[in-house]
Amino acid sequence: MKKKILILGSSGILGKNLVKQLKVKYKVLHNGIKKRKIDLTRLMPLKQILKNSKPDLIINCAAITNLDFCEVNKVQSKRVNVDITNKLFFLKKKNNYNFKFIQISTDQMYNGKKKLKSSENCKPVSFNEYTKQKLAVEKICIRNKAVVIRLNFFSKEKKNIFNWVIKSCKLNHRINLFKDIHFNPISVSSLSKIIEKIIPKILKDDIGGIYNLGCKDNISKSNFCIYVINKLNLNYKNYKIVSSNKFIKTRRPKNMSMNVSKFQKKFKINLPILKNEINNYLKETNVKIQN
Ligand SMILES: NC(=O)c1ccc[n+]([C@@H]2O[C@H](COP(=O)([O-])OP(=O)(O)OC[C@H]3O[C@@H](n4cnc5c(N)ncnc54)[C@H](OP(=O)(O)O)[C@@H]3O)[C@@H](O)[C@H]2O)c1
Repeated sequence: MKKKILILGSSGILGKNLVKQLKVKYKVLHNGIKKRKIDLTRLMPLKQILKNSKPDLIINCAAITNLDFCEVNKVQSKRVNVDITNKLFFLKKKNNYNFKFIQISTDQMYNGKKKLKSSENCKPVSFNEYTKQKLAVEKICIRNKAVVIRLNFFSKEKKNIFNWVIKSCKLNHRINLFKDIHFNPISVSSLSKIIEKIIPKILKDDIGGIYNLGCKDNISKSNFCIYVINKLNLNYKNYKIVSSNKFIKTRRPKNMSMNVSKFQKKFKINLPILKNEINNYLKETNVKIQN
């Protein structure tokens, strides 16, 4: 019989991609694809979902990801970013459920010196409310022996940097590209495939803990965007390369680059390098731009 996976945050970028990727091998349960069906901050519906679905694994992608919004709406964002997971573990204990759990986290707690990549045991920084909430939910997960994946990804959907730069070129918007922020994202499609690969081990073994997942090498946000622009042969010049300080409302780290060795070793997966990853994603999604 197929194992049951409940994906929370299934109307978001990652959740939606995971539903698509996992539905062949698993019985996938979710909370709506086009629009969320249920407000997960309420205990009763959560209780009902667990009772009806009895999942073997929950992947929690539900979150409020807008840093500026979290900063001014601390209570509301905490209800989603922290309390949903807390309630799930409360219900697990109370009802003796047996599910495994993957919490999707972020790279926002890393601020490596120079261009160094941070590993999971580096002391976290929390410059903003979003990061504080992500660190709080990680603690709950670790207490409950769950798997936490710290990551950053790019996608052609919503406000993601990849989509933003392509849209801006299409609309001939003047854009500022940050030269001082470094990261190592992976494409949402590779990410979904990799999560599919690690699920059997998570279901079988007790391997709770924090894992960084991204490309092996890092890049500045400006070089990431310029690489995408060049790959699409856009000959687009309506951008300025700037330092981020003047342009961001909510304080955030400058070097979120993650060391991904622990993940590669644990799951025996060779993670990609960024330029190949961007090339593949462009090919796969067939993104084209008409000027
Ligand atoms: N995007 C990135 O590059 C990035 C980087 C680092 C980490 N992450 C982490 O990756 C995960 C997925 O991110 P994403 O970009 O896919 O997020 P997203 O597109 O903003 O999706 C968030 C999901 O959470 C759901 N949600 C929010 N409040 C809810 C509530 N009260 N009840 C039920 N569902 C609720 C949303 O539903 P609605 O659509 O109905 O609002 C949506 O399905 C998050 O944990 C995020 O912190 C993302």
